[in-house]
Amino acid sequence: MLSQYLYISTAPTLSRDEVDAILATSARNNPARGITGLLLYNGRNFLQLIEGEEEELVALMLRITEDARHSGITVLDRRAIEARACPDWAMKRVLIAESIASRPEMPHPEPPEGLAPEIRKMIMNFAVLN
Ligand SMILES: Cc1cc2nc3c(=O)[nH]c(=O)nc-3n(C[C@H](O)[C@H](O)[C@H](O)COP(=O)(O)O)c2cc1C
Repeated sequence: MLSQYLYISTAPTLSRDEVDAILATSARNNPARGITGLLLYNGRNFLQLIEGEEEELVALMLRITEDARHSGITVLDRRAIEARACPDWAMKRVLIAESIASRPEMPHPEPPEGLAPEIRKMIMNFAVLN
C-alpha cells in the first residue's frame, strides 16, 4: 500500500551544509527503498513529505525521529495514496525564505501537482510562516 506522511520538526541552527548533507543522505538511500518526497527548511523548522510503501515509511520515520539534528517531530498528516505526488524526487529541497527580510528575493515555492488540496495548503502555509 502506498502511503504519504507529512511532518514538521524543529532544528533552530542548521547550516546550509548540514541541510545539504541530509539531502545527500536521502538521495543516496531513498531510491532503493522506493521513497520519494520533498523537504522545506525555514531556518528553524523542517516540513517534510515522504511517500512510499507503508513499511518503508514507518522504518524511515523511526530513523528520522532518532536523528539528533532535529526534535519535536509532529506528524501533520498520514494517509494512503493512489499515486505519488513526487515520483521523480528522491528528496527534493523546495527552497523557501529563511527570514522575512529574504522573502522578496525568493521564488514562490511550487508544490508538485497531484497533492491533495489540504496537503498543498499546509506546504504553502509553512513556506510563508516566518
Ligand atoms: C529533517 C530530516 C529529514 C531526513 N530525511 C531523510 C530521508 O528522506 N531519507 C533518509 O535516508 N534519511 C533522512 N534523514 C536522515 C536520517 O535521519 C538518518 O540520518 C539517515 O537515514 C541515516 O542514513 P545512513 O545510515 O545512510 O547514514 C533525514 C534527517 C532529517 C533531520
